[in-house]
Amino acid sequence: MKIPILDLKPAYEELRTELDAAYHRVMESGRVLFGEELAAFEDEYAKSIGVAHCVGVANGLEALQLVLMARGIGPGDEVIVPSHGYIATWLAVTHVGAHPIPCEPNPHTYNLDPAKIEPLVTSRTKAILPINLYGLPADYGPINLAAKRHGLFVLEDAAQSHGARLHERAAGTLGDAAGVSFYPSKNLGALADAGAVTTNDAGLAEKIRHLRNYGSKIRYQNEVIGLNSRLSELQAAFLRAKLSRLTEWNARRTGLAKIYVEKMKGLPDLILPGTTPGAEHAWHLFVVRTTRRDALQAHLTAAGIGTQIHYPTPPHLSNAYRAAGWKPGDFPLAEKFAAEVLSLPIGPHHTSAQIEEVCASVRGFFTRS
Ligand SMILES: Cc1ncc(COP(=O)(O)O)c(C=O)c1O
Repeated sequence: MKIPILDLKPAYEELRTELDAAYHRVMESGRVLFGEELAAFEDEYAKSIGVAHCVGVANGLEALQLVLMARGIGPGDEVIVPSHGYIATWLAVTHVGAHPIPCEPNPHTYNLDPAKIEPLVTSRTKAILPINLYGLPADYGPINLAAKRHGLFVLEDAAQSHGARLHERAAGTLGDAAGVSFYPSKNLGALADAGAVTTNDAGLAEKIRHLRNYGSKIRYQNEVIGLNSRLSELQAAFLRAKLSRLTEWNARRTGLAKIYVEKMKGLPDLILPGTTPGAEHAWHLFVVRTTRRDALQAHLTAAGIGTQIHYPTPPHLSNAYRAAGWKPGDFPLAEKFAAEVLSLPIGPHHTSAQIEEVCASVRGFFTRS
């Protein structure tokens, strides 16, 4: 691909000195788990988003799962999740034995629509689990109000929204707790799997520290049924190096998103990303929508431009959830978006010229066909 959707190599080229130093620090320390790098990263990440506690874990899926476990959410309970989003959010609910209850999105932001939450609440509902999809914070004002009215816990899926804000508050601080992923392609990405839980609730953070370590505070004394979900020293050290660039790299993404909006506005049958009032987008993905999605994708591929679909199958229609009995037509917006969304290249190492070339190719598709 002439313009790949994602290329991790330039990040290493830019941060070579810091990443190499991080590697050497860990190697020379002789400590690979639960050492100084993890403690320092947890502290630095918590400070960067203005939250009291950050607990590093193995990945974003387990970050969400561990919070649900710590809250005692399990069999028979229901958790409201977005119908349009990544399946990992649903899997976290299923892994604790609870039921994901899909909530349709706001058609402009693609995030869970707060107006559609209350009809889904039952006596079994325990939590709402919104995703800040594509980097845009969900609408937490009305989400938190609905949660308060019904005594529900709000678990924010902040896997795609490092550095995003809503009314000056950072993603990861917008609900009662958040699960974060540092999967390598994320705005803040490790060099393998990694994740974290962030919260202002000291008791919850303490429980997660035990649950991530086999449910144990003292070695070989196991108080509860836990997981093995550790963030390694090496990944923590790499993440510290990358955290120092997050603001700058997100600013580059914002600049590229502006070019997309400026150069692609007004095209027939091309819907540009919407926004939540008061939100600062992290532009993890730049997602457009068109009824001619597959033809547009083929056109861009032929021009050497990488694209992806986030996500082609809504979770309720995936084979994984077949036993739950959902069928086509159950969540029409999620199904429509799965058929129409297309992610264009956006990343801190794409150049303005590359993005302008993508825009020209998209314009060419809509004006010539
Ligand atoms: C919205 C969302 N939730 C959860 C996850 C799971 O994160 P991980 O891949 O680190 O388990 C991801 C990322 O992959 C994601 O995009």
